[in-house]
Amino acid sequence: MTARLLIVEDNRDFVANLTEILIDLGHEVRSADSCKKALELGRDWVQVALVDLRLPDGDGTRLAEELKDENPDCEVVLLTGHASVESAAAAVRAGVWDYLIKPCATPDLLATLSKALRHVDAQIERRDLARRAQRAEKLAAVGTLTAGLSHEIRNPLNAAALQLTVLERRLRKLEPTMQAPLLEPLTLVRDEIRRLEHILQDFLQFARPAHVTMRPVAIDELLSRVVALLRSDAERRQIELECLPRRAAGASGDADQLRQVFMNLTLNALDAAGPGGKVRVENFSDADGSHIYVDDSGPGVAPEQRDRLFEPFFTTKAQGSGLGLPISHAIVSQHGGRIELGRSALGGARFEVVLPRR
Ligand SMILES: Nc1ncnc2c1ncn2[C@@H]1O[C@H](COP(=O)(O)OP(=O)(O)OP(=O)(O)O)[C@@H](O)[C@H]1O
Ligand SMILES: [Mg+2]
Repeated sequence: MTARLLIVEDNRDFVANLTEILIDLGHEVRSADSCKKALELGRDWVQVALVDLRLPDGDGTRLAEELKDENPDCEVVLLTGHASVESAAAAVRAGVWDYLIKPCATPDLLATLSKALRHVDAQIERRDLARRAQRAEKLAAVGTLTAGLSHEIRNPLNAAALQLTVLERRLRKLEPTMQAPLLEPLTLVRDEIRRLEHILQDFLQFARPAHVTMRPVAIDELLSRVVALLRSDAERRQIELECLPRRAAGASGDADQLRQVFMNLTLNALDAAGPGGKVRVENFSDADGSHIYVDDSGPGVAPEQRDRLFEPFFTTKAQGSGLGLPISHAIVSQHGGRIELGRSALGGARFEVVLPRR
């Protein structure tokens, strides 16, 4: 198990020795000799910190609190001399993981660090499980609800569409000069009805996920087609849309559904990139299977939103339904694959889809 460890101590020899040992064990190690530097280096990064209780610019207990504020998943082990065992013990009662008395034997130190690490891992896993269970519950509830609701809405919607056709036929029999001002609003209403039908279809995909028929799919061709469909949209919004389809080993799956996945991801990327931005779609394959990247030059995903992206109805867009990613996630999972969020070299988000080998 490799980990990201931070040593905060002003005794250079101690730091150098310990760093060497920990790196040999395969860990990533950073060291700091002050609270200020520790916060700079540890923020967003550290998993377990080994912190001296007495530091030149403050005390270790306070630093431990600050590190945990920034990074609630990390744990802190305090190092203390005999004189201040009392305050270290108090810090442990207040939430620090453990303390060690200097000088301490290396095996003891390593054992404490690895116990803290196991705890950090277990905590993250537990939270992850809880989140996944919550998402699954929400999905199931959404499924049941939307199946009923979609059905109820579809009937009156079909009736309205039908009446609209009747209305249009009658309108077309009028004088041409009278037709135009009446046909225009009618077309608008019809477009809106189409939009609603589209939304319903998306909803229904949850309730009764279409059966996947596994067939060989040429990913490069699929991506080229998706990009071709979105090309004019991108041009209109002055976004550079690049597609680098590679003739790689194909995947197996349902081409229609996979097209929807890449469409959703590329549409999101276009939204994120915005005018003057750039979107790139590419693929390759390796022993794991087919990898598809959708990159954009947008602002990326804020850390507090990362966990919510695949939740149904989570959206930051005025016109968004927040169903694009959850549907894509459901489809990719049905294919035995996965979707992951990363950082793009273009500056924004990178969504990676991995589909297992055929
Ligand atoms: N490439 C991206 N860069 C930054 N944020 C993104 C990106 N893709 C998705 N998001 C965020 O995830 C949210 C959910 O995306 P999702 O596709 O599920 O719904 P949506 O795009 O808002 O609506 P729609 O149902 O029309 O797709 C978005 O509102 C946006 O905040
Ligand atoms: Mg979307």
